[in-house]
Amino acid sequence: MDPNGHFLSIANWSPQRLREALDLADRLKADPKACGRPLEGKTLAMIFTKSSTRTRVSFEVGTHQLGGQALFLSSRDIQIGRGEPIADTARVLSRYVHGIMIRTFAQADVEGLARYGSIPVINGLTDLLHPCQIMADLQTVRAEFGSGLSRLVVAWIGDGNNVANSWLNAAAKLGFRVRLACPRGYDPDPAVFAAAEAAGAVELFRAPAEAAAGAHVVTTDVWASMGQEEEAAERARAFEGYYVDAGIMARAADDAIFLHCLPAHRGEEVAAGVIDGPASRVWDEAENRLHAQKAILTMLMGSTS
Ligand code: CP
Ligand code: NVA
Repeated sequence: MDPNGHFLSIANWSPQRLREALDLADRLKADPKACGRPLEGKTLAMIFTKSSTRTRVSFEVGTHQLGGQALFLSSRDIQIGRGEPIADTARVLSRYVHGIMIRTFAQADVEGLARYGSIPVINGLTDLLHPCQIMADLQTVRAEFGSGLSRLVVAWIGDGNNVANSWLNAAAKLGFRVRLACPRGYDPDPAVFAAAEAAGAVELFRAPAEAAAGAHVVTTDVWASMGQEEEAAERARAFEGYYVDAGIMARAADDAIFLHCLPAHRGEEVAAGVIDGPASRVWDEAENRLHAQKAILTMLMGSTS
């Protein structure tokens, strides 16, 4: 599996390739037609076994803007939902389409599509990772603080989930730091954390105010991710105090911004006054999903002719 031929994890791409994608995303934001129509005549299959607003719409619109066609494939409708193996799905889709974007539960399923198919695969969120989200987040952060990210400090408040794991991958690759505040028992994936720790890219705290101290970016996510609905009550108890409010923002740098991948729960992980306030960049962040993913689609599926 050529890691450059897919986008399964930020950890699989070199810093140079990540920067190339972010630079291209900036060019596409400035001029949505900067690349012409590199996906002319090409089709992206989009498999969803979980819900989505941003990922679905931004990939579909982005593919269209690049001259291609996107197919929305809900697991309610395709045979994956009835147990058809990932390997067979990969082999069959490779005969029809030119790329696959998948949002699902197991990271192994995304990797299986890449292993058994012969076309690029893009991870649109798994239980482990959300790499496309972090590309959009990095584009947002660069617009605010410049493209040299090495002095950046990102404070993550809450669940050590898929989005947190991808932040850690990005910090290890691009040389910035993530200060995490997670309740005990809700730390990031141990292997992802160990890699970030080895790169000197992460510090783990238990108190949100400690993690937020001096941070340029304060970010969080829901207490219960998709697939964890049955744990919601237990998580609500565990995450008491793990939210971003004006007090937490006051601990951060004077010019700190607030990010959230969305959807958000105001009054749970974030106060309305923060997400709807002057430090919030969440709408730019959501918009940047489109530009960052168009860059990734162009790099993976674009015609070279
Ligand atoms: N942030 C994000 O991935 O949003 P959706 O779940 O709406 O795609
Ligand atoms: N952590 C959240 C992100 C949603 C975009 C989830 O996995 O549900």
